[in-house]
Amino acid sequence: MQKSILIGCDNAATNLKKTVSDFLAAQGYEIEDIGCDGPGDLTVYPEIARRLCGKMQAEGFSRRGILLCGTGLGMCISANKFKGVRATVCHDAYSAERSILSNDANLLCMGERVVGPELAKKVVGEWISLSFKDGSSTEKVEAIKAIEGEMMR
Ligand code: RB5
Repeated sequence: MQKSILIGCDNAATNLKKTVSDFLAAQGYEIEDIGCDGPGDLTVYPEIARRLCGKMQAEGFSRRGILLCGTGLGMCISANKFKGVRATVCHDAYSAERSILSNDANLLCMGERVVGPELAKKVVGEWISLSFKDGSSTEKVEAIKAIEGEMMR
């Protein structure tokens, strides 16, 4: 996995995007910010999710993504409409750990109205430190992919 991450937010999460981007940069990550462009940019969260997830698909999922909104929920719902995306909302480090180790998630969603900056950094720190490994969870992730293959074009 590249040390490069795609990040996007709606206008409810521009502060959190800065916090997370600065944190990732300090960990040596390159960040590609796909918008929105600030609190005055009213692009709705599903369009930001479309932009970021489309890019992940086009790149063959070589990079992970982070999507931020007020709650993380709308971004997560939107992102999971894209084939190959496994997005989870994580507002605690244990969920962040399990999202990678159990679910092989490739996209993290958080909400600026839910999580404070220090906890957000903890969550992101856990999430970037882990990679999915074949084992007892493989069969379950493959079952997700099988449903996806049946239900999505
Ligand atoms: C604001 O549009 C708010 O609804 C959005 O940021 C997000 O929380 C949706 O799930």
